Amino acid sequence: MSKARVGVAELGNPILRVQAEKVVSFAGSGAETSRLLYIVEQMREVMQDRDGVGIAAPQIGISQQILIIASRPNERYPEAPFIEPVVMINPIINSKSSQTEKGWEGCLSVPGIRGYVSRAVQVNVSFVDMDGAPQCWGLEGFPARIFLHEYDHLIGLTFLDRIDSVADLISENELAKR
Ligand code: NI
Repeated sequence: MSKARVGVAELGNPILRVQAEKVVSFAGSGAETSRLLYIVEQMREVMQDRDGVGIAAPQIGISQQILIIASRPNERYPEAPFIEPVVMINPIINSKSSQTEKGWEGCLSVPGIRGYVSRAVQVNVSFVDMDGAPQCWGLEGFPARIFLHEYDHLIGLTFLDRIDSVADLISENELAKR
């Protein structure tokens, strides 16, 4: 079985450092709709292939405001809770809790490294779904962490920009030994 592999943009790739463009076309214009579906399908494939629990379009080389949250337990994140995967387009943070929590994060674009990152425990977000319908969601705990991590990719940041200290970085191999 061979499968075409979509490349993942890794640290140093300029696409990870720029503000992603808003998605402007949804249902209605056929070509644009199928382009959006195609992008999301590729994102899903890469995410599943590499045991990610989330992904943002810039990570597959597309500078558009699209992210997926798909928390589920897997080899990379055995403690992750299961939630139905959700595609968020043009997401906005409406509010987030002042209460924060530190947790380990990895990133398909930062291979081999995990960071102990402080994030808001709760976040309220707006986004547009695949059908172009506006949505408002509250996220808490690990799904909130995933959202904030993926959202950062849309504004040119990675978790490395969020760590308090370089001492909060660890190699995946060392983390696995703990
Ligand atoms: Ni990431």
